[in-house]
Amino acid sequence: MNIRETIPADIKDILHVEREAFQRDSEANITRDMLSDLSAEPCVSLLAFVENQPVGLILFTRGYIEGNPRIGVSFLAPLAVIPKFQKRGIGGALIKEGIKRLSKIGVDLIFVIGHPEYYPRFGFTPALKLGFQPTYPLPHEVADAWMVLALRSDIIGVISGKVICCDVMNKPEVWHQ
Ligand SMILES: CC(C)(COP(=O)(O)OP(=O)(O)OC[C@H]1O[C@@H](n2cnc3c(N)ncnc32)[C@H](O)[C@@H]1OP(=O)(O)O)[C@@H](O)C(=O)NCCC(=O)NCCS
Repeated sequence: MNIRETIPADIKDILHVEREAFQRDSEANITRDMLSDLSAEPCVSLLAFVENQPVGLILFTRGYIEGNPRIGVSFLAPLAVIPKFQKRGIGGALIKEGIKRLSKIGVDLIFVIGHPEYYPRFGFTPALKLGFQPTYPLPHEVADAWMVLALRSDIIGVISGKVICCDVMNKPEVWHQ
């Protein structure tokens, strides 16, 4: 398996991976839109390949904390691995590679809405109780799906606030689908 940054010519492969993983079009459409959303820059977009076949995709887009524009914020969404290639560590490898690249470009906090049993493997913890509110409120029963990973040790407990995502994601219907 190898992982590399995507280029514009990868768009068909990116959409294919998304549709296969989610079994619907909505994540693929949002990904396509986020890749041309200037408010999401700098983004990190990585494709994983097995024998030159695209099998996994991860996208990180820029956000910010209201009132704290100097804190570097990134959103992890979406992460997708084609079903036939799941449970081989590809999703994990994409997360780790993304974290490595984000730390090099000055990102301090990474946020995700995801499976609370999966992302803690990579250091993510529930964000609400640390003082970070999502762009749109989430139902109480999925509150722990809103998670954060700090890439710097001096932020948690010092900085808090509402986390604003890129323009394409900044719509209630995107958060509540
Ligand atoms: C979630 C996903 C990206 C994981 O990719 P992957 O390549 O299979 O991940 P890894 O091989 O690194 O890890 C697999 C582990 O994650 C676990 N896992 C996968 N989905 C999970 C979920 N919904 N909840 C909890 N654990 C989950 C698997 O059970 C497996 O556990 P194991 O290591 O104990 O066997 C993949 O299942 C996927 O694309 N799912 C559909 C789209 C999706 O839900 N994306 C995530 C949105 S937050």
